[in-house]
Parts: sequence; C-alpha cells; structure tokens
Amino acid sequence: MNTNQTSSPAVGIDDIAFATGANRIDLAELAGRFGVEPAKYYVGLGQSEMSVPAADEDIVTMAAAAAAPIIERHGSDRLRTVLFATESGIDQSKSAGVYVHRLLGLPQAVRVVELKQACYSATAALQFAAALVARNPEETVLVIASDVARYELHSNAEPTQGAGAVAMLVAADPAILELETATGVYTQDVMDFWRPNHSATAIVDGKLSISAYQDAIEGAWADYRSRGGADFSEVDHFCYHQPFTKMAIKAHRHLAKSLGSERTQEELDAQIEPTTGYNRRIGNSYTASVYLALLALLDGDDDLTGRRIAFLSYGSGAVAECFSGIVRPGYRSALRSDANRARLDARTVVDDARYLQLLEDAASADVHDSDRPRETGAPFRFAGVVGDRRQYEPTSA
Ligand code: COA
Repeated sequence: MNTNQTSSPAVGIDDIAFATGANRIDLAELAGRFGVEPAKYYVGLGQSEMSVPAADEDIVTMAAAAAAPIIERHGSDRLRTVLFATESGIDQSKSAGVYVHRLLGLPQAVRVVELKQACYSATAALQFAAALVARNPEETVLVIASDVARYELHSNAEPTQGAGAVAMLVAADPAILELETATGVYTQDVMDFWRPNHSATAIVDGKLSISAYQDAIEGAWADYRSRGGADFSEVDHFCYHQPFTKMAIKAHRHLAKSLGSERTQEELDAQIEPTTGYNRRIGNSYTASVYLALLALLDGDDDLTGRRIAFLSYGSGAVAECFSGIVRPGYRSALRSDANRARLDARTVVDDARYLQLLEDAASADVHDSDRPRETGAPFRFAGVVGDRRQYEPTSA
C-alpha cells in the first residue's frame, strides 16, 4: 500500500484562447434571400452574424491561431499531449492536430490525436486531459476544438452555420477554472445529425435534434447528480452547447422545469445571457461552441471568482456530458478579453454574394489540387493542395 499519498492537486483550465474566420455575414443578408424577417434569426434563433472562413483558412489554421498565444505564453516544455476535437475533419486518417503541431513548432516528444463525436468531442478531450494531468501533474495537455459548420445551402439549417476554434491548456493548479471531479454522461443512438463520407455537408433533422439535445442534457444532469454533482441551486452559471444561442435558453428552461426549479424564466434567462455574446456573432462552431460560451462569460464584467459554472455539452448522434468547475482567484489576469472582443469586430463584412462564392470555392478546394489566394490576416494559412497533400504555412512565409 502507498503510504505517501497526498491529496490530489487542483486540475483544470490554465489558459484559453479562440480564433474564428476572417469574414462575417449579417444574418439579415440571409433573411433577404430566404424571404423572412431578420427577427427570425436575431430573436427566434438568437443569432446576429456568422463567421465565414477566408479562402485560405480552415480548421487547421483556426486551431493553430487559437493555440499560438497559449504556446507563446507557456512554452511547450511541459506539454505532452495535443487533443484535437472536430467534426469537420479534413482527412479520414491523419489528425489535423499533426499539422498544428508543426505550425506551432511543438517538440516531437508529444502525442497528438483527433477525437470525433459531433459537437461533444472537445468535452471528452477535456476530461481525458484532466485525467492525464491528475496522473502526472508536471505534464500539461493542449485541447483544441475547431470546426467549420456547413449545412446544405438554402436549407433551414443554413443560417446556423459558423466557424471557430478554442484552445485550452489543461494543467495542475490552473489559473482560470478548477474542474470538479463529478461528471454525468449520457449516450443514445439517434439520427438527428450526421455527415456520411460522401457528403461535404451535414444531414440534419433539425426538430429531432432539438428534442434529442434536451433529452440528453436531462440524462447527463441526472447522472451528474447521482455521482455527487452540485444541486441546480448551487450553480451560478451554465454553459450550454450553442448551435444557436436560443437553444441554450430553451435547454436551460427545459432542464429547470424538469427539476422543478423555482427560478423564474427571467432568472433562468439571466443565467444564460452572459454566455451567448461570442456565439451570437460567430454562429455554430460545433465542438468549440460550449467553450466559446465559457470565454464570453469569463470576458464579461461580472467578477466570477469562486463561482460554480456547470457545463452541458451535447453532440448529436447523441452523447452529452455535464460537469462543473470553480473559477479561480485572479483568473482575469490570465484572460485576453480586449483582444477577444477586438477579433470579432476586425472581421471583414461580406454580403450574400461574396459569402456564397466563398462557400463554393471552399468546396472545390477539397477536391482538386489548387493554390489558395492570399486572404487571411491570421498567423497561419492553408496554401493549397498539391498531389492530395494539404499545404499549411505561416502567413508571413
Ligand atoms: N420574429 C421572431 N421570431 C421568429 C420569427 C420572427 N419574425 N419567425 C420565426 N421565429 C421564431 C420561431 O417561432 C422559432 O422560435 P421557437 O422555436 O422558440 O418557437 C424560431 O424563430 C425558429 O423558427 P423555426 O420555424 O423553428 O425555424 P426553422 O424551421 O427555419 O429552423 C432549426 C430552425 C434550428 C431547426 C434549423 O435552423 C436547423 O435545423 N439547424 C441545424 C440543427 C441545429 O442547430 N440543431 C440544434 C440542436 S444540436
């Protein structure tokens, strides 16, 4: 028996940063083409804009851009693992994380792997990362969630596209959020959203996906509670997966009702509102969206020190997980709030015609060898495809 056991160290999110596409389209542009009121998207879906990648951006360039400031700040001496979560992978075999590993100049003594389960897999990555760090608190793990959300053009799902990446450094004695150990999980085989190998866009049964999401969240919460998780009333903020921000409001009302919470609708909505600011302007970023909700909350005016945040992560198909964390004292000094807000404003505004052209162009880039035009102002670019080999380089090259 080991008689030298010490209490396990706090493990959690030590740094967090994001990146998104170079362009943005106001959803009023889509409302015009669809012949509906902009309010359907602004109010009905809770979305005002969506990010559109430049011709030389994709999940790899966004992931590297999100992770670069983290590596710059912390170095890579303690980094042992990169977990890349995505559901819009650019290869059936090679992990997108391996390209990021080279672009960031990471050491060879690092394991890299890609994880997939619709919008959920970054949460699996975070839990796997926490377990690795708990086993060896000297090591750190880089978790990256990066996705370009694509649905069939002119379908009802098109206004819920978007693009973004979040990178998180998981470490012992974290600067931002200590993860609590209780987690609740839920899996059920349901065909609400999937993307067969032959298709560049996802197939979705939108209404089924909303009810499957709510069922899964309820199941994950029940499991979280049965494993010692906090009571609903003990949670200060809730970060939900946000395919569109209204979904988080719907899910939160649904969960509260199922638990018999006495909180009013206004109180419930106020718990979600501070988590929606970034997703409302980026659109669906699939795996990244629940962590963009966290980043928006952290970057807000409220002092969150010591507060408990619950996470409700959902991935169609379907898997959900509920877990929680406590915000660490001094967390603000680890944030990049001004730069985060400025990044959203700095995107180039495109109209519907330019947006449609960018989508068409991106679809052909995956099929044919081609050079990509120089467009992005991000630190890394997708230069094109040569002999079926994707080429990535620093934008300054
Ligand atoms: N002003 C304000 N609200 C309006 C409006 C207007 N002029 N017109 C419509 N709305 C509201 C509707 O009442 C509805 O709100 P409610 O659900 O709270 O009642 C909302 O806007 C959306 O309208 P709806 O007709 O349901 O939209 P849709 O059928 O065109 O598509 C989705 C909505 C979400 C199903 C579709 O975008 C989709 O499939 N998205 C991808 C899948 C997805 O994101 N799933 C989420 C779980 S993962």
